[in-house]
Amino acid sequence: MKKVLGVAGVGLVGAAAFMFSGVYNVSATDKHWDITTRLLELVRDKSVHAASKNIVAPNLDDIKMISNGAKNYDAMCVQCHLAPGAPVSELNQALYPKPPVFHQKDDKHKHKPAETFWVIKNGFKMTGMPAWGEFHTDQQLWEMTAFLQKLKGMSADRYFELVGEGGHSHSDGVHFEASENNTAIDKDDAHSNDGLKNSTHSDTDNHGH
Ligand code: HEC
Repeated sequence: MKKVLGVAGVGLVGAAAFMFSGVYNVSATDKHWDITTRLLELVRDKSVHAASKNIVAPNLDDIKMISNGAKNYDAMCVQCHLAPGAPVSELNQALYPKPPVFHQKDDKHKHKPAETFWVIKNGFKMTGMPAWGEFHTDQQLWEMTAFLQKLKGMSADRYFELVGEGGHSHSDGVHFEASENNTAIDKDDAHSNDGLKNSTHSDTDNHGH
């Protein structure tokens, strides 16, 4: 017993020395070991699964829902998750972990609709994935979930057709109130520069931002 406690004590001192030494590199360019990534993904997926198990998805095949979801996706998600026909973004390239690209087939990122809804609503700690439920109704979150069910393998033409004129709606004023004094942001079009359709970012102004 004494021996076990001794080994545990040495382990704890070692762990503390490691934490306080600053040796661990927190840089996003210093990738995790494969085993660490797999463990983190396992914990994430189990957590999402457990948290969403009582959520019942509505009918997600409604075309109005899908196209509403497409509009909000285009306004808020493309800069990280890309879209058919979209150029690869700096955020997509530079974030770690990398945001999955939903329109490309990637079975690793396969969730049930209720799980996808939960992730959009709550986000992920320490990844860059925001909690969109802070500013959107469940209806809007389900609309984006409905759209994501269809996004895999979608053509750029179909994507643009669904996004249409674009547009982005918020259910409550929280977001807009916060930006009311910012004259550069138009109330009805708060994300006009974010979406693929309206992207104004060019490679020639690399040094300007
Ligand atoms: C600032 C970047 C960023 C934005 C904007 C963003 N996400 Fe994410 N998202 C991420 C990252 C990073 C991950 C991956 C985290 C990981 O690997 O665990 C992620 C993961 C996800 C996942 C889980 C994917 C999976 O299979 O595990 C879903 C679903 C998702 N995002 C939906 C959205 C939607 C919908 C929007 C727009 C409303 C959005 N995201 C906007 C960064 C972003």
